[in-house]
Amino acid sequence: MKRVIGAAIALGMTFSVGAIAHEGATGVVKERMEGMEAIGQQVKILVPMLKGTLPYEPAKVEQSASIIESHAGENFTKLFPEGSVGKPSEAHPDIWEDWSKFSELAMELQSTAGALKTVAANNGSEGDFKGALGTMLKTCKSCHSDFRED
Ligand code: HEC
Repeated sequence: MKRVIGAAIALGMTFSVGAIAHEGATGVVKERMEGMEAIGQQVKILVPMLKGTLPYEPAKVEQSASIIESHAGENFTKLFPEGSVGKPSEAHPDIWEDWSKFSELAMELQSTAGALKTVAANNGSEGDFKGALGTMLKTCKSCHSDFRED
């Protein structure tokens, strides 16, 4: 559990940087940044519940997970036409070199967010909630470490 929380905190730090890098983006790049930012906003709601600084509220978790799910999968990958890199985008050119891995991770985000939503919708235990959220956050990290520039 400690490791999951550490990863969540590390993610939290990259969010504020992302928000600044946003300036000047247009078209699909702007759209995907906004999608990612919407996802980031939801994670900000979820992480305090993971750390226990706010109580676990299944209804809120369900709503956040559903927003993340809607921005993942093909809704996300369709915003990456070949070669759409360069400032201010932080997308790595390897995305198109290894498209199957990239799209797999986008699908994985959709399914892990879906699993989190299901736990919350069924009033799952706090332990199950933390487990499902931790699994989802690992997907963010895997994709960012391979496919997003620092
Ligand atoms: C399939 C790959 C992938 C997954 C999974 C993924 N991301 Fe991202 N994320 C990216 C890429 C690529 C960018 C850079 C996009 C750009 O700048 O064009 C990015 C950018 C961001 C940004 C910065 C947005 C901005 O305004 O510049 C935030 C915040 C973010 N991601 C949060 C998350 C969170 C939270 C998760 C997990 C819930 C997640 N991401 C999962 C690939 C992914």
